[in-house]
Amino acid sequence: MVIELKEISIQDIDEYLKVPITLEIHRVLEVKLEDDGLKGIQLVEKELEESYIKDYDDDSDIEGLKDKFDMSNWGFFIASMEDENVGGVIIAYDTPGINMLSGRDDLAVVWDIRVHPEHRGRGIGHMLFQKAVDWSKERDCKLLKVETQNINVPACNFYVKEGCELGCIDRYAYSGDERLSHETMLIWYLELQ
Ligand SMILES: CC(C)(COP(=O)(O)OP(=O)(O)OC[C@H]1O[C@@H](n2cnc3c(N)ncnc32)[C@H](O)[C@@H]1OP(=O)(O)O)[C@@H](O)C(=O)NCCC(=O)NCCS
Repeated sequence: MVIELKEISIQDIDEYLKVPITLEIHRVLEVKLEDDGLKGIQLVEKELEESYIKDYDDDSDIEGLKDKFDMSNWGFFIASMEDENVGGVIIAYDTPGINMLSGRDDLAVVWDIRVHPEHRGRGIGHMLFQKAVDWSKERDCKLLKVETQNINVPACNFYVKEGCELGCIDRYAYSGDERLSHETMLIWYLELQ
């Protein structure tokens, strides 16, 4: 299996978005507070009685971002196998107005990472994540940051496997959005130096 990574620009985002990012949610990490949080927060894996499909593209507007922000500092990569696009990663960097970047130029964010459902679990995600790591190091970043949710257990396991550590649990991050209010935001960090 030969996987090639090619860099694209935001103009080619349509090609990128053709790789599905959907996943079936069978289990979640239930967020449990001890003594209202004074004694810590636990994430406990729980099977759902009924699974459901999550599609990140329903809630994010990557195309629309280019009208609001200067994305010239961002990295866009597509993984392909025998001319089929099987995955991709987008890295945000040094862009005023992007809250996730906290106004820092020594921090990058894995904005999006996806592998086609038929090709998951074969190391393509690892390749893409490592691309994000190398790309960020080339820009002297000290930290790589990535957001996911307690409902995406495979992604949490994946980030841990890539060396990330949990930095933030925000139970109210999506509380203003009725469709997402049951999700808890988890922010993972990888120290690069
Ligand atoms: C998360 C994702 C990008 C990982 O890509 P992948 O190609 O499946 O991952 P890899 O094959 O490189 O896996 C690397 C390691 O992560 C772990 N991992 C990956 N998928 C996993 C899963 N479903 N369950 C548990 N661990 C998993 C494995 O331990 C694996 O290590 P191994 O090679 O020793 O088995 C991919 O599953 C995906 O596209 N998911 C849907 C989109 C998504 O959730 N994006 C992130 C949004 S925050």
